[in-house]
Amino acid sequence: MKTIRFGLIGCGLMAREFASAAARWCHFTGDIPRPEIVGICSVLPQEMEWFHKNFPDIKYSVSDYKELLDKEDIDAIYCAVPHNLHEQFYIDIIKSGKALLGEKPFGIDKKANDAIMQAYRETPGAFVRCSSEFPFYPAMQTMINWYNEGKFGKILEIHAGFNHCSDCDVNKPINWKRMVKFNGEYGCLGDLGIHTQHVPFRLGFFPKTVTAHFSNIVKERPDGKGGMAVCDTFDNCTLFCTTLNKEGDEIPMTLETKRMCPGSTNRWFFEIYGLECSARFSSDDANAFYYTSSWGKEQSWNRIIIGYKPMLPTITGPIFEFGFTDSMQQMLGAFMLEYSGEKVPFGLFTPEETAMSHKLSTAALESHYNKKVVTLD
Ligand SMILES: NC(=O)c1ccc[n+]([C@@H]2O[C@H](COP(=O)([O-])OP(=O)(O)OC[C@H]3O[C@@H](n4cnc5c(N)ncnc54)[C@H](O)[C@@H]3O)[C@@H](O)[C@H]2O)c1
Repeated sequence: MKTIRFGLIGCGLMAREFASAAARWCHFTGDIPRPEIVGICSVLPQEMEWFHKNFPDIKYSVSDYKELLDKEDIDAIYCAVPHNLHEQFYIDIIKSGKALLGEKPFGIDKKANDAIMQAYRETPGAFVRCSSEFPFYPAMQTMINWYNEGKFGKILEIHAGFNHCSDCDVNKPINWKRMVKFNGEYGCLGDLGIHTQHVPFRLGFFPKTVTAHFSNIVKERPDGKGGMAVCDTFDNCTLFCTTLNKEGDEIPMTLETKRMCPGSTNRWFFEIYGLECSARFSSDDANAFYYTSSWGKEQSWNRIIIGYKPMLPTITGPIFEFGFTDSMQQMLGAFMLEYSGEKVPFGLFTPEETAMSHKLSTAALESHYNKKVVTLD
């Protein structure tokens, strides 16, 4: 089996997910190139302990990411660092000639994303993708296949979102994701937006216009040291977009990203409404999706449990349940295949899609501040 040698930049929440998925590569039944963690980088030595304990073969352990970019025995980098660092880190990684699996939002703002895209275009042979794992749930993949097979008929409406609720606890201490200087002006939209856009963009639903509403509900939070700190990011955002269906009809597409949505622990959802059939998936009910049967003028909602039938086959029985860590592994498997030049039925979010995401988010801010409908060309 081919091995792809990785350096991880940032050793936080997402880097641990990467490492854990890489550690159980035997889960796949197919011949998928295996990620091997060769080097790690963090500014916090205590974060590296978990990696050294569980991956004793890690060769390089550095605090300056550029040291990993010089290593000839590293092929690819997974970079999961705060948004204010994306621009410089991603550009340096791309220019080093290593493949990049970056994290969203792929630049703190459009200017940063433009600079990353320029480096990408100027680097021959660059291989770059952005992490987005939720579309890899088997139930969601089934809905995507249904769309591609034309089962829904003429599409009437798209509604997608990624909502959280832990910020409803106003005593939750602040972190970098709640500060504009680290997270970016888009706030919750920058942090969660790409998750909501991957499936619509890939199915060809590109926003034509946007009317946005952002709210900043909680303006300060405990600083974790006994005081209070300014919390200047937007908590909730709803994008009311228009898009075109295949027949060229203008239809609504609503994209929600909320940090304060009561009851939504980690609710990623996608709903598609069509003339012949409609369907909806929510990560709250991750093994199933709902679809309609038509009874003439009326329709009934049915729930079908898909279970464990992922895009990339695994050892797990098809009746078992699929979860977040499985979606991470499916996404990584898809990255390894795409990087190796193989086609996958559903690939990761592309650099071009990150550019579209930033265009939408920037237009959304303009819409919100000026209280107007903004047209995207
Ligand atoms: N795909 C997903 O579902 C998902 C979920 C959460 C976060 N993310 C994204 O992952 C990225 C990181 O988020 P996280 O939740 O893992 O954050 P985190 O705070 O847990 O980790 C950030 C890491 O960056 C490191 N870091 C900070 N400055 C550094 C520097 N100068 N050099 C090297 N390392 C440095 C920190 O030490 C830490 O290890 C963000 O872009 C975020 O949007 C993605």
